[in-house]
Amino acid sequence: MTTTIELSHLHRFMPAATVGRAPILLLHGTGGDENDLLPLGQTIAPGAALLLPRGKVLEGGMPRFFRRLAEGVFDEQDVRRRANELADFILEAREVYGLDAPIAVGFSNGANIAAAVLQLRPEVLAGAVLLRAMVPLSDAPRRELDGTPVLILSGAADPIVPAENAARLASILDAAGAVVDHRTLPTGHGLSQADIAITKTWLDQR
Ligand code: MLT
Repeated sequence: MTTTIELSHLHRFMPAATVGRAPILLLHGTGGDENDLLPLGQTIAPGAALLLPRGKVLEGGMPRFFRRLAEGVFDEQDVRRRANELADFILEAREVYGLDAPIAVGFSNGANIAAAVLQLRPEVLAGAVLLRAMVPLSDAPRRELDGTPVLILSGAADPIVPAENAARLASILDAAGAVVDHRTLPTGHGLSQADIAITKTWLDQR
């Protein structure tokens, strides 16, 4: 059963079926919505509370979490605005649904907004899994990540995310104090079975 109380983001919420698991915030890629990562969430974190917002920006009718000027070229002013809005939504949802700080699991554009939240409002997340992420902000303020666990999974043949960019994101988060586990898988931009298995194992250890 999922519920949708009206909050600042359109979203779905699935209450926890198991005690003791961190809630998971699932952030879709371009063209996704609050429904498409539900099966992924149930696979990687069975029994956890799942919170699934829909991105507020539309690009040719496709939901996203922030505006971009071209593929891989971001409107950084909008990234900041939307990351702050998403952080506020997380606080709102925690209060309404009685949740601990969630671990974000984001894919592509969803991974990039999660990385921006880590750079701007790290206190709202208990950790993050960034699937095919890039550096979202070129000049983010330095915030202390203080041991926040972050898993970054990149694709060796990803045509959208250059290897150098993903490595730079890992080193930015590492320098801010996150505990970063960055792995590159033999795949492209899409998710593989290995992404799912590695993410599940990593989440099981939280
Ligand atoms: C982005 O715009 O966030 C990245 O280019 C990934 C994508 O959504 O295609």
